[in-house]
Amino acid sequence: MAAFVGRATKQGLLRAKPTLLNQQATFISFSSKTKKRVAWIFGSLALGGGAVVATALAQPAFASDLVLHPPHYPWNHKGLLQALDHGSIRRGYQVYKQVCAACHSMQYLCYRNLVNVIMTEEEAKAEAEEATIEDGPNENGDMYERPGKLSDHFPSPYKNEEQARAANNGAYPPDLTYIVPARHGQEDYIFSLLTGYAEPPAGVKLMEGQHYNPYFPGGAIGMAEALYNEIIEYDDGTPATQSQLAKDVVTFLRWAAEPEHDTRKLYGLRAMIICSFLLGVTYYMKRHKWSVLKTRKLAFKPPTYKK
Ligand code: HEC
Repeated sequence: MAAFVGRATKQGLLRAKPTLLNQQATFISFSSKTKKRVAWIFGSLALGGGAVVATALAQPAFASDLVLHPPHYPWNHKGLLQALDHGSIRRGYQVYKQVCAACHSMQYLCYRNLVNVIMTEEEAKAEAEEATIEDGPNENGDMYERPGKLSDHFPSPYKNEEQARAANNGAYPPDLTYIVPARHGQEDYIFSLLTGYAEPPAGVKLMEGQHYNPYFPGGAIGMAEALYNEIIEYDDGTPATQSQLAKDVVTFLRWAAEPEHDTRKLYGLRAMIICSFLLGVTYYMKRHKWSVLKTRKLAFKPPTYKK
């Protein structure tokens, strides 16, 4: 502080000899001009600080801020080197197909994406053929329907957004392909949302077709609780509890949003191994190349003049 005042007032307090008498004398000799300058500095500092505090206090509190943050769950694919649980992806696809697909589209996913991840090629072909896809126009200019192929995208349950809203009390069920990275809290949020339905607390009024979920911003969500214990039966015999269904569908949704997840981590690991090896080689080369410059000795030999 003394240095700051000293600099600001050009009095050179720090340079003064450290005797009490001397310093006192220096302070007493403040001119009125200097005093004004100090007053200006402190005045503007106080004003600036006041402005910052005022801006911070003027932030409004939104009702949507009153949202329950989901806890962090130990997902088995969250670690730096951990792959997705593929059994879980397979079960999650079953949950999506039998429960969520009634209302939610996943239009960026094709049947061919399922091959070698969720099922074999033959199974995926059979799966695609179960769906009816609108194609066309044919040579008469008409649209026609045909069984699905591997190259087809998943069909949407509704023709357009308006139809989707009309069927769900005005709420729009979003496409689920990229929903996991699209929501704050990601997997933890979707899991908590699916398992977090509760009775509305006293004082909370819901409109018709709304349900109470403390994890949804605002609390009132247009989606009814979709998962219950034993709502479906898993092909692999895993007990289909609500939390198991939610965990599996969330793992499936993470895979859908990021099918390259496992390859990305594998390549990351390879890159780290190769780069750490190269780092050692680079360090050695650097030392080697600079050794001549760094070990040279400069000597000054004063010239000798003849008298
Ligand atoms: C009966 C129809 C229906 C079913 C079945 C359904 N949902 Fe929904 N879902 C909706 C509607 C409607 C909304 C929009 C809610 C809103 O905006 O208030 C929604 C919203 C969502 C959201 C977005 C929440 C947000 O933060 O915006 C997610 C995630 C979601 N559903 C996941 C699922 C999953 C996973 C399943 C299957 C287990 C599922 N839903 C089953 C109708 C449904």
